[in-house]
Amino acid sequence: MRPDGLSLLEANGGAAALEILSAHHVDLALVDVRMPQMDGLELLQRIRSSYPDVSVIMMTSYGDTATVVQAVKAGATDFIEKDVSVEAIRNRLLQAKKFWELERDNRALKSQAVSSFTFDRLIGESPSMARLKEVISQVGPSDASVLIEGETGSGKELVAQALHHQSGRRTGPFIVVDCGSISESLIESELFGHVKGAYTGAHESDMGLFRTAEGGTVFLDEVGEMPMFLQVKLLRVIQEREVRPVGSARSQHVDIRVIAATNRRLEEQVKRGGFREDLFYRLAVVTLAVPPLRERSGDMPLLSAFFLKRLRTDSTAVIGVAPETMACLERHVWPGNVRELENVIRRALVLSKGPLLQPEDLPPDFRHGKSREVELAVPETTTDRMESYEKEAVLNALEKSGGSRRQAARLLGIGEATLYRKLRAFDIK
Ligand SMILES: Nc1ncnc2c1ncn2[C@@H]1O[C@H](COP(=O)(O)OP(=O)(O)OP(=O)(O)O)[C@@H](O)[C@H]1O
Ligand SMILES: [Mg+2]
Repeated sequence: MRPDGLSLLEANGGAAALEILSAHHVDLALVDVRMPQMDGLELLQRIRSSYPDVSVIMMTSYGDTATVVQAVKAGATDFIEKDVSVEAIRNRLLQAKKFWELERDNRALKSQAVSSFTFDRLIGESPSMARLKEVISQVGPSDASVLIEGETGSGKELVAQALHHQSGRRTGPFIVVDCGSISESLIESELFGHVKGAYTGAHESDMGLFRTAEGGTVFLDEVGEMPMFLQVKLLRVIQEREVRPVGSARSQHVDIRVIAATNRRLEEQVKRGGFREDLFYRLAVVTLAVPPLRERSGDMPLLSAFFLKRLRTDSTAVIGVAPETMACLERHVWPGNVRELENVIRRALVLSKGPLLQPEDLPPDFRHGKSREVELAVPETTTDRMESYEKEAVLNALEKSGGSRRQAARLLGIGEATLYRKLRAFDIK
């Protein structure tokens, strides 16, 4: 054992490495890609299949994205570029070590308290939510970078917090970086900090968000908005766990985990050339998709009860949601997802006379098929109001025609194609 707590075993090639693995307990293998006889990718595959508990870090050449991509797909935990300093390699190994220890502790603790803290706030028991929570508890304790994809308001930030709370970093900071809203000229210094006098106006030195997150998690929200020049720098930070403050000649080591979120398909942005592929693979070691609310309408009773409880004040007379109202909520398409639901409940609580929320307490366009009169007392935009009238008319016609679309179109005096378009636009099944 060396002073840094690592013990090293050297193998001269793939066959020798497999021999060592069969005789010793090994936590991590550092594998070169280019080797005679058995190359690194083949060795990686052999290790993955025979020794799934051994983490594999690949040593790649700078800019060899193709190999990096292949290695990640084949199950490499991480990769290091061969031309980085020995010190940087050592830091990465130490980090990896810290990480198994945490994992081991975590497993030992089986910490019920931690998981309930996390999942109390992430409401939903539909199959897709159950699956998401399962993955969160698997991936959370690791230091793997996670890319969270999901529509606006679907709960991406909540998922990122859950991952943080599931990890050994839970007592460390959780720092949110909104990549879409920081101005391009300031973003580098916001992230990496600056030294005093680095630019006009930099009267004091600043740590930057990455170093503020030391020992914790950095959440890169809307990562697809990050400008190209910063993507290169971010890649360096993630690879070497080092940041260089603006105006400083020296890099500083940081111990952070990176979680990123996007509401668009980042992979498509990569294909179009708007996002670096190597950075994408760095960020998306694990990808989590947060399902849109319309695909889990089974969660509606739980979610609405949760928001009722959270948003009601002592003076609200509301104790629940009427069944007709629940039906309207379950039918809605929810372009704004859970955040939209939260707003709808907040609004309904203000309007409701209690004890149950009625369809009239929902915005006009929620009430098709139920209440026939369109509420005009609450100011809406003209487009909203027109749409809700139109929707009412379409539903009325469908009811009169007994569901026949052709007849409904005739009643409305529009073509069938137009009716279909409207059905789709209003999400009428
Ligand atoms: N499963 C859930 N259980 C309880 N609350 C939720 C859930 N999902 C989302 N929320 C709540 O909905 C709101 C929006 O969630 P969040 O900010 O995480 O969404 P987001 O995907 O990051 O949205 P955006 O893309 O707009 O940034 C928050 O108030 C959050 O607490
Ligand atoms: Mg968000």
